[in-house]
Amino acid sequence: MTEVIIAKTEDEAGRIYADCAARLIQTKPDCVLGLATGSSPLAAYRALAAKVQDEGIDVLQVRGFALDEYAGLDPAHPQSYRSTIERTVVEPLGLDPAKVHVPNGDLKTIAEAGRQYDEAIKAAGGVDLQILGIGTDGHIGFNEPGSSLASGTRIKTLTEQTRIDNARFFDGDINQVPTHCITQGIGTILKARQLILLAFGAGKAEAVAETVEGGISSFCPASALQLHPHATVIIDEAAASRL
Ligand code: GLP
Repeated sequence: MTEVIIAKTEDEAGRIYADCAARLIQTKPDCVLGLATGSSPLAAYRALAAKVQDEGIDVLQVRGFALDEYAGLDPAHPQSYRSTIERTVVEPLGLDPAKVHVPNGDLKTIAEAGRQYDEAIKAAGGVDLQILGIGTDGHIGFNEPGSSLASGTRIKTLTEQTRIDNARFFDGDINQVPTHCITQGIGTILKARQLILLAFGAGKAEAVAETVEGGISSFCPASALQLHPHATVIIDEAAASRL
């Protein structure tokens, strides 16, 4: 069964992730962190950055792989996941940017980029600790409902709901939100040695209940966490309200 921790605040949840990640970095200085975008992991990154600073933890060998990227969006665009990961993770933690990878959403090479990304993760020895958020429809990474639970990294179409949810990052204009993405597959995500999923607020309550207590189904991609031997869901009381 997936372990569930109900935290009082996002900061408390973030500290639980940070303790776990810091311990990992101290025991394995070149560990591989799986990184996610979205608002849910931000408190966790802040807590880890504070811990790295306060305890003088050396992170220069830490490697990272992001979950996903928009397709056809310039990596230099402020809302690209490359820019977002640099702003929210690489800079505050002081990671070596050359060691942090984001899937390549360039349309010219996207057909091959997924397989190459999975190979790069494998060559790095696999992800040690993957942080995850969850979409209101239960998606992880950008694996929308209906995604194969065995999928590898590949191009996907974004649902209307996800584009509506993410329009807030694009001046509230859905027309500016890309229609496609490249995302680690659910099969890729399940290969990580440990998973921590963070979710906050009543808007996530339904998806969290399906994830933890529903049947394992591609209609709620996050329910695949039930297949993982070391997955923890850290949520606040509002997100736990349907459990
Ligand atoms: C996007 C990302 C997901 C993220 C989700 C939820 O769709 N691709 O990785 O989990 O948003 O975002 P938030 O945490 O802001 O609710």
